[in-house]
Amino acid sequence: MKILHLISSPRGEASFSIKLGNAIVEKLQAANPGSTLTVHDLTNTPFPHLEEVHINSFFTPQENHTAELTAAIKHSDEAIAELKDADVIVIGAPLYNFGIPSTLKAWIDHIARAGHTFRYSEKGPEGLIKNKKVYLAISSGGVYSEGPMKPYDFTESYLRSVLGFMGMTDITAYRAEGVSIPDLKDLALDKAIESIAI
Ligand SMILES: Cc1cc2nc3c(=O)[nH]c(=O)nc-3n(C[C@H](O)[C@H](O)[C@H](O)COP(=O)(O)O)c2cc1C
Repeated sequence: MKILHLISSPRGEASFSIKLGNAIVEKLQAANPGSTLTVHDLTNTPFPHLEEVHINSFFTPQENHTAELTAAIKHSDEAIAELKDADVIVIGAPLYNFGIPSTLKAWIDHIARAGHTFRYSEKGPEGLIKNKKVYLAISSGGVYSEGPMKPYDFTESYLRSVLGFMGMTDITAYRAEGVSIPDLKDLALDKAIESIAI
C-alpha cells in the first residue's frame, strides 16, 4: 500500500493536525506491513496561487505549450502524478478562519483539472481519481462537528465535496477539536487518536 501524507500546518512538532495525521499513518502501516510512505509538506514548498499562466497552461493543448506554459503546468502534473500513485491519502488540515489553509487550497487548485482528475460527460461531472481511500486529520480551536458552531463547519464539508468531485468519495474524517477551549484542549488530540478505526 502506498500512503501519501499531505501536511498543511506550518507548526511542525506542535501541530495537532500533523500528530493526528501521523497517528493515522502509524495505524495504516501497522495494519499493512510493507506500506510505503510519502510525506508532502505543503508549507515547505507551497504550490503557487493560480496565476493567468497556470490557467492558460491547463487549457492549452500540450502540443501548443510554450516553454513558459510547460514550466507553469509542472506543479499540477507532479501533484496529480503523486496523487494517482497513492492508494491512501492522509490530509492534515488545521482550521483557519473557518476554512482550510491557503497552502492546501493551492494544492487543490493545481490538482482539480478537467480531463485529468474530472471530466464532464453527458451524465454531468465525473471524478477520475477512483479507488482511493482518504483520511482527513482536522484540528480546530473550537468544536464544529456538533453544537452551535456546526453551521460553520465548512472545512470537512468542503474537502468532502471537492475531493468527491474528483472521484475520491471514500473519505473518513478524524478531528482534534476544541484545542483552544480550556475544558477540552487537554484531551482533544487523545480523543481523536483513540477514535481512529483502521
Ligand atoms: C491563522 C489561524 C486561524 C485560525 N482560525 C480558526 C478558526 O476559524 N476556528 C477555530 O476553531 N480555530 C481557528 N484557529 C485555531 C486552529 O484551528 C488550531 O490551533 C489548530 O490546532 C491549528 O492546527 P495545527 O495544530 O495543526 O497547526 C486558527 C489558528 C490560526 C493560526
